[in-house]
Amino acid sequence: MKKKLAVLLAGTMVMASLVACGGNDAAPATNDAPAAEPAAEDTAEPVAEAEPEAEAEAPAASGGAISVGFAQVGHESDWRAANTQNYQDAFSEANGYELSFVDADNDNAVQLEAVRNFIQQEMDYICIAPIETAGWDTVLQEAQDAGIPVLIVDRSVDADPSLYTTQLGCDMVAEGETAGNWLGEYLDGADAKILVIEGSVGASATLGRTEGFNNIAAQHSEWEILDSQSGDFTQAGGQEVMESFIKSYSDFNVVVCQNDNEAYGAMDAMDAAGITYGVDGDVIIISFDATHDGLQYTLDGKINCNVECNPLQAQFAADVIQKLEAGQAVDAQTIVKDEAFVAPGITSQYAITMTQEVLDGRAY
Ligand code: AHR
Repeated sequence: MKKKLAVLLAGTMVMASLVACGGNDAAPATNDAPAAEPAAEDTAEPVAEAEPEAEAEAPAASGGAISVGFAQVGHESDWRAANTQNYQDAFSEANGYELSFVDADNDNAVQLEAVRNFIQQEMDYICIAPIETAGWDTVLQEAQDAGIPVLIVDRSVDADPSLYTTQLGCDMVAEGETAGNWLGEYLDGADAKILVIEGSVGASATLGRTEGFNNIAAQHSEWEILDSQSGDFTQAGGQEVMESFIKSYSDFNVVVCQNDNEAYGAMDAMDAAGITYGVDGDVIIISFDATHDGLQYTLDGKINCNVECNPLQAQFAADVIQKLEAGQAVDAQTIVKDEAFVAPGITSQYAITMTQEVLDGRAY
């Protein structure tokens, strides 16, 4: 089914909404569906959605499959693999969709070309997980001119919001702040010499986590951020940056890795250099994503604190599309709930203490 929804969807039918954010309410995440509570700071506006509404409703009454083009970032991390699988499951033929999936391999030009191809192919909807925040205005205008609703998913863009229909994903600034707040609580006034392995340059996940962590670091004069370099959200990148940090800095006690794969690389580099880390080691490791393996390392006490970024977001996108199919208003923004997890032996107001039961209850 190739059909054009009215361009009015892009601007006039949106409302502010948050599904949930934070990670500070210490209840184990089960991940069967991103959960839902309004973020405290944003409750003034109507909160229209609480949960993804249904498992794969049938496509609109008109009958044919709904075509969706998905321009995915790439395959840089375990998180990304889980996110891709989640979209492929939710937008299956059995659920009434025809999904065109492009893995842009972290290449902006490839991603832009994929979106232009989707426009040419007159997709019913386009989902973009933007590699970088910048550079989207022109192609988003082209999609709007073609009458194709665009969902910005996972990360965000710095384009005019009237150029796309909705944005959904985790609150990356809040994730960074959770990491910082946990570190402040854990150190309880002790000095920190911090090395940061950032994610991909220009990605909202990187910018947000950095901003959030720095917001909290600014409140701690006893902390010093020694260096901050991109590991590109990959294990190889994390290892390479950590090896170079080890050559440059002999005195550090905190390594912040902006995703789990970077943490695996950083741990390999520290193992090779004979540096101990985790709850029984000299260096505190903070990671982001809380994927299965990342949480196994947290349960094992190797990662001290792991701040979740929930990859199970496709049902939110499907809910938006079903609403548009039904001619209903959709929310301008949906924030997917995150939690945070700490190693056994640590208790925190900001995070859940890992147990085998918590790990077994995870879906990714
Ligand atoms: O945008 C989400 C981030 O992208 C995840 O934290 C990271 O693992 C991925 O590559």
